Amino acid sequence: MRGLPGSQAPGHQKRPVAKTPSDPPSYSAFAEIYDAWQRLYGLEYAILVAPRVNLRLAAHVGRPQTLIDLACGTGTHAVLQAHGGARVIGIDLSAAMLHQARMRAAGRPITFIEADMRTFDTHKPVDAVTCLYASLNHLLDPEDLTHTFKRVAAHLRPGGVFVFDLNSQEAFATLWRTPVTEHGPAFTLHRRFESAGPQTTMHLQIERPGHPTVRDTLTARSFPESDIRAALANANLTCTNLTHFNPFPTVPGTSLKQLWTVTAGS
Ligand SMILES: C[S@@+](CC[C@H](N)C(=O)[O-])C[C@H]1O[C@@H](n2cnc3c(N)ncnc32)[C@H](O)[C@@H]1O
Repeated sequence: MRGLPGSQAPGHQKRPVAKTPSDPPSYSAFAEIYDAWQRLYGLEYAILVAPRVNLRLAAHVGRPQTLIDLACGTGTHAVLQAHGGARVIGIDLSAAMLHQARMRAAGRPITFIEADMRTFDTHKPVDAVTCLYASLNHLLDPEDLTHTFKRVAAHLRPGGVFVFDLNSQEAFATLWRTPVTEHGPAFTLHRRFESAGPQTTMHLQIERPGHPTVRDTLTARSFPESDIRAALANANLTCTNLTHFNPFPTVPGTSLKQLWTVTAGS
């Protein structure tokens, strides 16, 4: 793991966290086509949900001046927030996703750090922390939610807000089930799924003209609402709003996603 020089406070480096199948190389191959793939369904997810997320942020901190985007991926949300005037730190475990993010963000006041959201430390409290597009579903153990939420709590200034989304069980039962082949502008993506209990593994095969076929594997799980609430309580965070929604204009379903708004304190 790399971060800002000295970004690991003493004691954090050694924190025992389970290795998950979402550690690299997941997203290594997917990163190159990730944004183009999202646009097959309209717009990048972070753009589709931006009005909802901004409303939730505004309810607590107005327009954030400082924001950490956890699991920032290719940086779409980080760039949107920088446009809105925030100084943004984007954190992600995948070097390949961060490479795309740095290209997208060129010249904007965004710092990208390769780090694990379960252990990150940027040393400075911020107005807001976000974590979008079901990134928390990649944590496979409820204890990892607690680790992550504790790090978030340590980074929220008094009155600060944490906004995150999760895939619901409905999303796993529909979006993460049926094999699909998708044709993009310059790629074909085959996705198939294997489920075991609450966990589902997505196998991706990416074909691009002039490139060797590459594969990627992403594992995610659903969490019962009680697990989320318990992990929030363990981190001394309180939910102020929970909304169920479907951001995708072309996909059926009413509660594919949960949007949680959380503040410090009980
Ligand atoms: C579905 S993508 C979402 C990316 C971005 N938030 C978006 O809205 O497009 C999930 C991201 O979570 C990252 N990720 C998974 N586990 C992580 C962890 N433990 N710490 C930091 N990032 C992680 C992956 O590398 C990937 O970029």
